[in-house]
Amino acid sequence: MDPIRNPYAPGAGQRPPELAGRDEQLAQFDVVLERVSRGRPERSMVLTGLRGVGKTVLLNALRSAAVRKRWGTGKLEARPDQGLRRPLSSALHQAIRELGHPQQDDVDHVLGVLKAFAQREAGPAAKLAEKWNPGIDVVARKGRADSGDIEIDLVELFTDIGGLAADVGKGIAVFIDEMQDLGPDDISALCAACHEISQSGLPVIVVGAGLPHLPAVLSASKSYSERLFRYQRIDRLSRDAADAALSRPADDEDAAYTDEALEAMYAATGGYPYFIQAYGKEVWDLAPRSPITADDVKVAAPAAEAELAVGFFGSRYERATPGEREYLRAMADVAVDMAATGQGRIDDIGSVATADVAIQLGKKPQSLSPARDALLKKGLIYSAERGLIAFTVPHFGRYLLDHA
Ligand SMILES: Nc1ncnc2c1ncn2[C@@H]1O[C@H](COP(=O)(O)OP(=O)(O)O)[C@@H](O)[C@H]1O
Ligand SMILES: [Mg+2]
Repeated sequence: MDPIRNPYAPGAGQRPPELAGRDEQLAQFDVVLERVSRGRPERSMVLTGLRGVGKTVLLNALRSAAVRKRWGTGKLEARPDQGLRRPLSSALHQAIRELGHPQQDDVDHVLGVLKAFAQREAGPAAKLAEKWNPGIDVVARKGRADSGDIEIDLVELFTDIGGLAADVGKGIAVFIDEMQDLGPDDISALCAACHEISQSGLPVIVVGAGLPHLPAVLSASKSYSERLFRYQRIDRLSRDAADAALSRPADDEDAAYTDEALEAMYAATGGYPYFIQAYGKEVWDLAPRSPITADDVKVAAPAAEAELAVGFFGSRYERATPGEREYLRAMADVAVDMAATGQGRIDDIGSVATADVAIQLGKKPQSLSPARDALLKKGLIYSAERGLIAFTVPHFGRYLLDHA
């Protein structure tokens, strides 16, 4: 069919033509926005899930919802080894501008505090040239949010920004993607600041997204984090939602799927959003005409799998060193053994024990810690529980067994 009219959008963070199966989260977030802007106590939201399930696009959709309510919003993507100050300053700068507060003096005052917060990263004695210029066009206000203790500074900063938003009856929302990659000090400061701000009823929220172990990271940092955030597990789509993700965009282009085609698509994709987009794209291009049939799906499957092997799996696999690849492969082998003995399912690899991986490789567990830690840091595996690890990428085990 006409590739120019192909509606599907495989790719990290690519907005899907139909955001299927997320109505519950969107509705709940509307409640959060309303309650917070009225100064009512409310937990913010944190989205968790494997790679490719649609956390980033949902986070973006939540941001759009906040923008529609005229909130000030900003977004950042956490990176390992990067401090929170700079990216957060940029995000908050944007949020303040979006707020459209009418009193320029008040705005400039808070921007001055934000600038001092941003520049504190270089250290108090830093020369002007060493200081990062956050592009904020006011004089930095010394003495607030620039103590160097990120927790104290965040509380002060959020308090001032929250006051600005409260003036105009709106709120500020900061969206943090890949939140598990924040450093421990930043995580803990962020939780403390959210805690503090929610107690004072100021309309500032932090909305996060990250890998499945993010709740564990947050609660290890502050035990009260469960009361700050409502965790929303983002997962594969139900059959109905997966059908909608494929059919509605097709319908907009006057095309359709047969029931058997939709069934074949669900079998192939397991309902994982990234796979749905990748298959949708290939099947559309290769199908001779509408309606798309189960046969078309069969014909297109190798191309879709090849595309995924490169774009989704391969790009991640390439980040691993030879030793780390061996470790990944051993994880997949252990999972197969578990499936064979009825302890797990190969298709949806749950956690495997690090001790079993060591046995599989015939090595001492300690000698494998560097490889495991590097894989954790690269975000290829995660550990939700001590002694257990799992792939962050769905179907990664199957990919490894076929390709590695
Ligand atoms: N609810 C959804 N319905 C249909 N497609 C989706 C949905 N959520 C995500 N996608 C698609 O899945 C892919 C991965 O989305 P992304 O947000 O990058 O996932 P994550 O951040 O969890 O890794 C993208 O191609 C996106 O268009
Ligand atoms: Mg993402």
